[in-house]
Amino acid sequence: MMEAPKTTAAARHALPYAPNVIAVASGKGGVGKTWFSITLVHALARRGERALLFDGDLGLANVDVQLGLYPASDLRRVVSGPASLKDATVEVKDAGFSVIAGRSGHGGLATMGPAQLDSLSRALMTVAPSYDRVVLDLGAGIDRTVRALTARAGINLVVINDEPTSMTDAYAFIKVTLQQRPDVDLRVVVNQAETQRDGERVYGAMRKACETFLKASPPLLGVVRRDSWVRDSIRRQTPLLSRNPNAPAAQDVEAIAARLLAVT
Ligand SMILES: Nc1ncnc2c1ncn2[C@@H]1O[C@H](COP(=O)(O)OP(=O)(O)OP(=O)(O)O)[C@@H](O)[C@H]1O
Ligand SMILES: [Mg+2]
Repeated sequence: MMEAPKTTAAARHALPYAPNVIAVASGKGGVGKTWFSITLVHALARRGERALLFDGDLGLANVDVQLGLYPASDLRRVVSGPASLKDATVEVKDAGFSVIAGRSGHGGLATMGPAQLDSLSRALMTVAPSYDRVVLDLGAGIDRTVRALTARAGINLVVINDEPTSMTDAYAFIKVTLQQRPDVDLRVVVNQAETQRDGERVYGAMRKACETFLKASPPLLGVVRRDSWVRDSIRRQTPLLSRNPNAPAAQDVEAIAARLLAVT
């Protein structure tokens, strides 16, 4: 039987974090973190928040690809020295939010040394106070980079779907995150659900595992339905809320943004 999380040295010497940073993690890859992060930041901007999307997946950054952006500079150049955060910030036209992109096609920062990781965390902490909300799109897995960035976020969202590997990997993420910071604000988002009800069932299974083995019950923030408009908008490199704000998945993320603003 698995043990409940212990308070580790890391938790006792917790790093300062930015309350307005919303990290989006999943453990397993490909569950829709990047698409969800883009749509969430857009929904927050539509509610009048000054919102930034920060690409924390520098190994395989693809916020820029999903949005069809060609930033003059990027986080890779900020972390390695020559560019400023201002140079790397792009406004997404007609969507009302900003992006600090990694840059796809450069695997260069997939394995960051401690100095680079420190520089990346500092970039996030420096930029966060200039916005109402910062959505932080993380890479898959629970490696050092993911753990370090998660530690800086006021809210951690864990995106899951109904695949067993998504459940086990998300469970591992939740366990590690609770060890790192026992008082962390962790919430679950179920993506690619057939129906709202089906999503709630998937969440129920996740919560049961957390209650049994971790003595924790991360609340459900919301369910996003599987929707063919998602793939369509990614293919067109246009945010879903610009292309079709009435699409089922767009409506679901709008509801999640409203709930997020109500609880935080
Ligand atoms: N609600 C949804 N309905 C239909 N398809 C979806 C939905 N969410 C995500 N997808 C599909 O999942 C694919 C992967 O999404 P995305 O790249 O955002 O995942 P990711 O978790 O960021 O992946 P990685 O771990 O590689 O960074 C998308 O290309 C899209 O086709
Ligand atoms: Mg991604």
